[in-house]
Amino acid sequence: MTVRASQRISALGTYAFAEVDRLVSDLRAQGVAVIDFGVGDPRAPTPRLIREEAKVAVDRHASSGYPSYVGAPRFRRAAADWVQRRFGVEVDPALHVTSSVGSKEAVFHAPLAFVDAGDVVISPDPGYPPYARGTRFAGGENFHYPLRPQNGYLPDLGAIPDDVAARAKMLWLCYPNSPTGAVAPLSFYEEAAAFCRERGILLCSDEAYSEIYFGPEPPPSALEAGLDNVLAFFSMSKRSAMTGWRCGYVVGDADAVALYRKLKTNIDSGTPDFVQDAAIAALGDEHHVVAMREEYRARRDLICDAFVAAGLADCRSAATLYVWQRAPQGMSAEDFAKRLLEPSVALVTTPGTWISAAHGVDDPGEGHVRLALVPTTEDCEEAARRIRALRLGGPSASV
Ligand SMILES: Cc1ncc(COP(=O)(O)O)c(C=O)c1O
Repeated sequence: MTVRASQRISALGTYAFAEVDRLVSDLRAQGVAVIDFGVGDPRAPTPRLIREEAKVAVDRHASSGYPSYVGAPRFRRAAADWVQRRFGVEVDPALHVTSSVGSKEAVFHAPLAFVDAGDVVISPDPGYPPYARGTRFAGGENFHYPLRPQNGYLPDLGAIPDDVAARAKMLWLCYPNSPTGAVAPLSFYEEAAAFCRERGILLCSDEAYSEIYFGPEPPPSALEAGLDNVLAFFSMSKRSAMTGWRCGYVVGDADAVALYRKLKTNIDSGTPDFVQDAAIAALGDEHHVVAMREEYRARRDLICDAFVAAGLADCRSAATLYVWQRAPQGMSAEDFAKRLLEPSVALVTTPGTWISAAHGVDDPGEGHVRLALVPTTEDCEEAARRIRALRLGGPSASV
């Protein structure tokens, strides 16, 4: 029997990184030391205090039982306390907080709770793929707003056509932004929340990178614009190097949280209790977060200083573990990524056009490559040496 793919699965594009994987294996087979800035998966060990707590928690939950669908009360309390300390926003763990199995599943599944066929979901371009894919799987339509340097990588809400806004049920924001590294000021969140409230749109704020910032002030949360019509999606993955633990939480509007909880009881059976206990320990400690932030800052500066020395624009990100580097004038994103992958440089980066939805003249991913600052600081030093040796000349592409 031939197993037939559903239309939903068939409609998905092919894996854009397959070609890079092939090039990288060829280079490695030739003995070239490739440094991989491709995928944003931090390779630093999860801090010891979190791992130690997990070990004890496994015994504490010796008789396992299914975890709570919405997160254990102690986990929701810890998340609420952290939101209070970090953003000064009071939330009730009983009403405004619910756990997720990492932020990705929450981002992907959320449209199933809020979107019907024909409804629109508005999301950034370039943006995290589950915004658009989750919408498609829920039967909704996508509308993308471009992220451009001239707007500080913020959406121009006034440019969203009225008929699109009238059909929209969700609007995704992602600040600190992947991949551009931009931060949104509170005034922008207030503007976006007002825009959404006036039109009955749920403002969905992906704050997976909220703790990786380099400015003197921590970036604000959309929750600071009020809980009404707002859901913020948090992740333990980047803040505490816990990508493999699959733990996140959603905070905001009580009605939206209730609908999302109802959806989730039909999808999975909650985040494992020992993972929640470890996450509570992680949320109670800021030392490891400060250390991690400084590590990313050092890597960012090594790479950005090297690109400047090679004659390119200074694209130092304000936050996140990404650098959104502009290509040399006249060079496409893909050609720049290929240039960086030549054996004498051997750096894997992602061309912006591979992670954008629009294709053609106005593609906001054109003229950029993304570097995920996940190689060790030592490898970043080596990468910086190789970048400095490049003669890229002239100013970077104006976009
Ligand atoms: C922008 C953005 N949001 C959300 C996530 C999801 O993180 P996780 O599922 O590990 O919590 C990621 C992961 O890379 C991301 O880049």
